[in-house]
Amino acid sequence: MTIELQWAVPVPEDLADLEPTLERVARACLDAEGIVGAGFAVRIVDADEIHALNRETRGIDRPTDVLSFPTVSYPQGRTARSCPKRLAREYDPTMGCVNLGDCVINLQRAREQAEEYGHSLNRELCYLTAHSAFHLMGYDHMNEEDRAKMRDMEEKALNSLGITREPATPSYDELFRLACEAMQNSYSPYSHFKVGACILTDQGHTFKGCNFENASYGATICAERCAASCAIAAGERRFVAIAVVGSTAAAWPCGICRQVLREFSDTDLPVIVGQYGQGYTVKTLGELLPEGLTPQDIGVDVNA
Ligand code: THU
Repeated sequence: MTIELQWAVPVPEDLADLEPTLERVARACLDAEGIVGAGFAVRIVDADEIHALNRETRGIDRPTDVLSFPTVSYPQGRTARSCPKRLAREYDPTMGCVNLGDCVINLQRAREQAEEYGHSLNRELCYLTAHSAFHLMGYDHMNEEDRAKMRDMEEKALNSLGITREPATPSYDELFRLACEAMQNSYSPYSHFKVGACILTDQGHTFKGCNFENASYGATICAERCAASCAIAAGERRFVAIAVVGSTAAAWPCGICRQVLREFSDTDLPVIVGQYGQGYTVKTLGELLPEGLTPQDIGVDVNA
């Protein structure tokens, strides 16, 4: 593992999948710098804890979004890739790699910033982790030149994961259009009811699906679960919107699909449903499935 995720606050339900996401971010940052065999701790704290840390370590008496505590002291103008000896001294046998230090993130501030920028909390945590990772590797933003260098590295790392600064969040119209596109591939020789779906994930990616039927009718797969399968196969497990279109009527998701969506979405998931050529209506998943079963309900920690 590249990161060691520590929670100093209760783990929010919408962040159940944070660890693998931040793991990918950390790896991308190390790759961008060109170093291997290193890792760092990511500690998620509340505003009070980061406020205290900011006061004690920097003499700044207010909370902030993220603090970085590098183990290595990098000489002026040098970063991790040009300091192999200094890094080697920080080998940590319990981590099994070089310990670059600690990244401490204020969850409350991250939530506020996510809202401000109009992207998901997950995405904001990716930015903060990447920013901190480069601090832990000797980057800084004290002057304009350094700031630009650090920013380039952050972009290089995040772009390699498809995480871009201004995610062009597709509109409901766009998701519905993509669902209509997917509907064209429907295989429905029995019902003649074509369905298309498009899922938007918290990484800003879209996954399309269509229904495909079977001579053994019960083996039919709905468009929603087809799209969900594509997202899961791509390693994306948090859904933030879904559009569904039916060829001759609005294709309201069936009960099984509602329950499948609940596994990977919050109850506020917008479900955009309509008929081809007729526009759509939007309801939340919570409205369609008020008491859906979740892993927590049966005492399962899906990340354990
Ligand atoms: N179907 C879907 O793909 N999604 C829905 O939301 C409702 C139903 C499919 C299954 C089957 O191929 C056809 O529509 C008729 O039920």
